[in-house]
Amino acid sequence: MPKTLRLGFIGAGGMTKAHTDAMAGFTDVTFAAFCDVKKARAKAMADSFGAEAFSDPAKMFAAIDLDAVWINLPPFAHGEAEFAALAAQVPFFVEKPINKDVKQAAKIAAAVEKADLITCAGYMNRYRKSADAAKKLLAADPVAYASGGWLGGPPRSGDPQGIWSWWIQKDKSGGQFVEQVTHTIDLARYLMGDAESVSAFAATGFVTGIKKYTMDDALAVSVKFKSGAVANFCASVACEARGGVFLDLYASQHAVCMTGWGHDALIYEAGKKKPKAVSGEAPGGAHIFGVEDRAFLKAVRSGNPAAIRTTYADAVKTLELTVAATVSAEKGGKPVTLKY
Ligand SMILES: NC(=O)c1ccc[n+]([C@@H]2O[C@H](COP(=O)([O-])OP(=O)(O)OC[C@H]3O[C@@H](n4cnc5c(N)ncnc54)[C@H](O)[C@@H]3O)[C@@H](O)[C@H]2O)c1
Repeated sequence: MPKTLRLGFIGAGGMTKAHTDAMAGFTDVTFAAFCDVKKARAKAMADSFGAEAFSDPAKMFAAIDLDAVWINLPPFAHGEAEFAALAAQVPFFVEKPINKDVKQAAKIAAAVEKADLITCAGYMNRYRKSADAAKKLLAADPVAYASGGWLGGPPRSGDPQGIWSWWIQKDKSGGQFVEQVTHTIDLARYLMGDAESVSAFAATGFVTGIKKYTMDDALAVSVKFKSGAVANFCASVACEARGGVFLDLYASQHAVCMTGWGHDALIYEAGKKKPKAVSGEAPGGAHIFGVEDRAFLKAVRSGNPAAIRTTYADAVKTLELTVAATVSAEKGGKPVTLKY
């Protein structure tokens, strides 16, 4: 019998619920501790699993012997939790985006490298069947041009205690490009390699009547990749009539067009009349969050990070690109060269 791994969770909100739901059938783990600045939230989750509740990450690590921890916090709330996990030498999973502050994220990445700690970032789209098919094809037929993004309507309703309390405030979430289009950028980086520079323009003033709303209404972003490829990415919360998620990748002999949250793909090949459909579900039809959780747990158990598709250090690059787009837009479109 393998040892039961004792798991902790920092941030007792929507994504901790999503991950505990996804791991509900895992027989080799136990949910041992929950931590939230709002202790009542941690206690409500802890009570449902017979676990302990905390409001301070360092106190949680001091009190409970954990094998791994999930850090499911809003972008503005990172730092303390990661450094506490590092001090306790506990491998950590961090939901995307891993931070909103690139400098702090780079500092954490350097500490992770020094400590040789297993980490995983929550970019679940890299584990989809469509991503596997695209990765294989595009390794042999590289992408020259891509476009992608997330388009939706104004965030008018939702739980004022939960995600909506911070999502609509750019200084807390980083804005839609940093918080949401981060998925598209991460998948593009997975399939196209690293980027070298970015420039962007923002639209503001179209979305009105939402208390505390400080986001850009839309962002149009151009990226140059180190491979020589170029791409256009977009974010918008300005339109009630039509929305969607997409990533289209164009190579010499193939085009891969992914759509929706599930990233189902149509793969076009030169000379063939009909595209091939590849599902965005996880191999075996498993829950996509459970698949990334299982990859992280496999690495924790074995000490070998091979199953993890986005490490913390890799996610720093995705964060840097999304933040650079926002910075460029604030500077009226001036290109920003990427460092990491
Ligand atoms: N992978 C995905 O598809 C996906 C989907 C939704 C959200 N997310 C990401 O997951 C992260 C968490 O989002 P969520 O939906 O769970 O948010 P949420 O608002 O539902 O929950 C966040 C929780 O963190 C707590 N918190 C805030 N600051 C804290 C601190 N310093 N220490 C401890 N707890 C603190 C809050 O009280 C709240 O309970 C975000 O980065 C978000 O972008 C990912």
